[in-house]
Amino acid sequence: MAATAETAGLQAKNILVFGATGLIGKEILAALIDAKSKFNRIAIFTSLSTATNKAATIEKIKAEGINVIVGDIKNEKDVLAAYQDIDTVISAVGRDVIADQIPLIKLADQTPSVKWFFPSEYGTDIEYGPSSAHERPHQQKLKVRAALREASSLSYTYVVTGPFADLYVTLGTAGPRGGSFDVKNKTANLLGDGNGRISLTVMADVGKLVVAALLHPTQSRNRALKVNSYTTTPSEILAEFERQTGGEKWNNNVTYTPLDELRELEKQAWETSSPAATVFTLRRIWTEGGTLYEKRNNADIGEPEMETLRDTVGRIIRKQLA
Ligand SMILES: NC(=O)c1ccc[n+]([C@@H]2O[C@H](COP(=O)([O-])OP(=O)(O)OC[C@H]3O[C@@H](n4cnc5c(N)ncnc54)[C@H](OP(=O)(O)O)[C@@H]3O)[C@@H](O)[C@H]2O)c1
Repeated sequence: MAATAETAGLQAKNILVFGATGLIGKEILAALIDAKSKFNRIAIFTSLSTATNKAATIEKIKAEGINVIVGDIKNEKDVLAAYQDIDTVISAVGRDVIADQIPLIKLADQTPSVKWFFPSEYGTDIEYGPSSAHERPHQQKLKVRAALREASSLSYTYVVTGPFADLYVTLGTAGPRGGSFDVKNKTANLLGDGNGRISLTVMADVGKLVVAALLHPTQSRNRALKVNSYTTTPSEILAEFERQTGGEKWNNNVTYTPLDELRELEKQAWETSSPAATVFTLRRIWTEGGTLYEKRNNADIGEPEMETLRDTVGRIIRKQLA
């Protein structure tokens, strides 16, 4: 629904997080914990299997004063009980269960205390342009946005971060032609001609940006917030690696995957049901410029301090050499 006078001024006070122990959920929870004095109550909803298999993590979370609710996201009763007195829901569930947020949204809409819902986005702008509607990896997230628009008493915020820098500025997961920076071997594969601009968000910054959105409700309700840590190019990333690994060029070991080849690899990956298919599509969208906006929205939510490319590259070098 659109912002109403009633909901526009509401502050997030009692927050429930789904997926809080996942890849990006743990960064969001860490940032919430850093800012916990700003909120009344922070709770997480997690599955029994996570509560059992990640028991040490769950104990640490409890020690921070976080209320841990164990349940099944597919069980209405569990979800409704968890929504009791919650005003803001932040979802960071994984790609495999994106559609499971639709019942979570419907239940939130039926719960009088819940006013604000952040669906699991934290990636590419799924409504960037007319062709976005046909991109395969966007389909489930688009249905979730539609469910939020149909909700009668919920505001929403889509935190659109583009690719996570921690995953882009490092060894690739889509094979030797899918983009990669390999410190040990001083080799790199750059997507496109290397000079296309791309906006990246460091995972820890995703958490900071979600908290900043919570603290700026008027600016962040009922919109896609397009935020990032920095905008760079594959060539600039390579130059930073070269600078921080002794200054020598990696020239002899640098290859390029032009957009046409990337499109062909993407097509083959979908035809063969490769697990890398989604990654190829997203990397093709990013290489086409799908992370660039006229203006990013960081300033609207107080311009939280972001990591720089230099710091990311330093961190990745230490990680790869460890
Ligand atoms: N921009 C990027 O580069 C990028 C990269 C990766 C992900 N993302 C986005 O970030 C969001 C979160 O992804 P993620 O990789 O952080 O997620 P994840 O680690 O795969 O999973 C997060 C949580 O979702 C819940 N979950 C996962 N599978 C489930 C299942 N089968 N049944 C029930 N619950 C399940 C679990 O919560 P509990 O254990 O608490 O039950 C899990 O901890 C997604 O929207 C994804 O598209 C973006």
